[in-house]
Amino acid sequence: MNGTRARSVESLRIDVLEPNPAIAVTHHFGPTPPTGTLEAWAIAYVLADTFEAKLSPPRPPAVFAPAWPPMRELRPGRGPAFRVTQHGLKSSGKSALRSESARARLLHTFLHHELQAAELMAWAIVAFPSAPELLRRGLVGILQDEVRHMNLYAEVLSERGHALGAFEVRDWFWERVPQVESIDAFLATVGLGLEGANLDHAPSFAARFRAAGDERAAEIEERIGREEIPHVRFALHWFKELSPRVRDGAQLFDAFKASLPEPLSPILMRGRSIHRAMRKRAGLDESFLSALEAYEG
Ligand SMILES: [Fe+2]
Ligand SMILES: [Fe+2]
Repeated sequence: MNGTRARSVESLRIDVLEPNPAIAVTHHFGPTPPTGTLEAWAIAYVLADTFEAKLSPPRPPAVFAPAWPPMRELRPGRGPAFRVTQHGLKSSGKSALRSESARARLLHTFLHHELQAAELMAWAIVAFPSAPELLRRGLVGILQDEVRHMNLYAEVLSERGHALGAFEVRDWFWERVPQVESIDAFLATVGLGLEGANLDHAPSFAARFRAAGDERAAEIEERIGREEIPHVRFALHWFKELSPRVRDGAQLFDAFKASLPEPLSPILMRGRSIHRAMRKRAGLDESFLSALEAYEG
């Protein structure tokens, strides 16, 4: 067990470094859940501040804390190995992925997306403790998938001689997602929105890596794309169960759009073209996909 994991939640709370002032931080959020609960485990994962701890969390405990209050102010640990920026990375043009270093930078950016996804699943577990237990258990499973995805990127970067932290990262998901005020808005934003968009992006980047002669990176994209399908299906199932808008009879797309926190828009939640086959496998129907495709803001 490494040093970070051996530390208690209480001490992690004190040590966290926060190099990104764009993220409002409150680390002192009152009493922490009992050790050995899924809540304590989730908090420790978010607060861990090394790549090692983010890549290999301990096995999750089996039990939730009884009736723990919501902890929405939790924000991620970012130790000195993380080079956090507030500026977006320049998007790479069509030919840019011919360069090995440009591909490494992109793989590192994707690794950081997986990390934020894993951390946000942990955040949702403690932010919405009154969500159904089955849903929160599902979030634990998805978190573990995201950690596995992160490891796929870490392995290929390591094989190619790039250290984690060699490139700047932006905590874009963290800057936006914690504004959601309900678990159904979280599912809309992360599951239907960001993970849904990945069903468009992953096959498109697989094709771009392949065109650049990088079959290894292409296969990782394809695998992750496939493995995101159940994440979107999970979010769709629970969003339909829990969204008051859906319950009141709204169309799925309208309920999804209205659930996104400002200034997020469905425009950000899709690729240049919609990958219908992938999205249909996740259970999204034609009326949702047509509305997403036609949406102009
Ligand atoms: Fe993922
Ligand atoms: Fe995912």
